[in-house]
Amino acid sequence: MSHPLLSFRDAVKEFPARGRGRRRGAPVRAVDGVTLDIDAGEVFGVIGYSGAGKSTLVRLANALETTTAGSVVVDGTDLTGLSEAQLRPVRAGIGMIFQQFNLLASRTVAGNVAYPLEVAGWPRADRDARVRELLDFVGIGDKADVHPARLSGGQKQRVGIARALATSPRLLLADEATSALDPETTADVLALLQRVNRELGITVVVITHEMEVVRSICHRVAVMEAGRVVELGDAYRVFSAPEHPVTRRFVASALRDVPSSAVLARLRERHPGRIVTARIDEVSGSSAQVTRVLAEHGVDGTIVFGGITELAERPYGSLTVELVGHDAAVHAALDGLRAATTVVDHGTATRPAAEGSDR
Ligand SMILES: Nc1ncnc2c1ncn2[C@@H]1O[C@H](COP(=O)(O)OP(=O)(O)OP(=O)(O)O)[C@@H](O)[C@H]1O
Ligand SMILES: [Mg+2]
Repeated sequence: MSHPLLSFRDAVKEFPARGRGRRRGAPVRAVDGVTLDIDAGEVFGVIGYSGAGKSTLVRLANALETTTAGSVVVDGTDLTGLSEAQLRPVRAGIGMIFQQFNLLASRTVAGNVAYPLEVAGWPRADRDARVRELLDFVGIGDKADVHPARLSGGQKQRVGIARALATSPRLLLADEATSALDPETTADVLALLQRVNRELGITVVVITHEMEVVRSICHRVAVMEAGRVVELGDAYRVFSAPEHPVTRRFVASALRDVPSSAVLARLRERHPGRIVTARIDEVSGSSAQVTRVLAEHGVDGTIVFGGITELAERPYGSLTVELVGHDAAVHAALDGLRAATTVVDHGTATRPAAEGSDR
């Protein structure tokens, strides 16, 4: 059975009001009553727009901030009211990586990775061996003697990951760790974080405003807005059947697989037939099912928009298809599709359907 490695119980973090006298504003509740269990061994995503409280939540987890109310429990230790000395071993069990890498410019790559080992009092020889092992693990064994300024963003983040792993933490917190990287480098770093989780068994919490990050590596996800968790669950469930408007916005902005009204107008110019969008996922329909239903009714289906990608390593997306055939056959095919999956009927150019017009 899994057990929580990190728990928040009605956790609140309030920052005092800024300004003085009559210009003094209201206090900011950056985290507003969060209850959340993150299990040992999972890759957990916290997604939300800027200002949602994501960074404050992770800063509560590694005790860089203390809660105003409620509690945070790390690996069985309640952080509430602990002294600096008591917090030290808790922090030692947590690695952290950042958007801006936070490397020491004056030290080499090896020197950066060795730093937490020096602080922990490791003997020189053990340190050297550990640094070599870590740099090989993250794939930059050849960069040991280089200074950070000479590295690419992806290489810098690999150093950041090696440094975070140096003292063998059980938990790795990644706050926007890929937000400064291009898409290809992002994919490489995410693959590395996945290896950290799978090969080293480290629990990974990724904080992000990018759906792509959650889509590719997270098992579960919490969606935050205004300091609260507004949606929580299995990543596949949350993004294939989003309930909260914020989650829906993330899905819509990340996938762009459902035609907007402008796209639809262009599709209609090119395709006079009936245009429908069919959802493809594990829960509702597969593309094979769509093809089969159309064949059964003797309807031609041309894919005109959309695509299928992966979410938590499972199929996910939508296909927009132009249906061409006799009216009765197209109707029957549409009913067949509706029985299999979620369908949006956009109608034809001459007879647009109302249900597709709200996008
Ligand atoms: N030290 C602080 N003092 C006062 N207010 C703060 C402080 N830190 C954060 N806040 C406020 O708390 C809220 C949440 O901030 P936080 O940095 O946690 O959001 P975030 O979700 O990480 O955003 P981003 O995606 O921009 O990093 C914001 O309104 C922010 O202005
Ligand atoms: Mg932040």
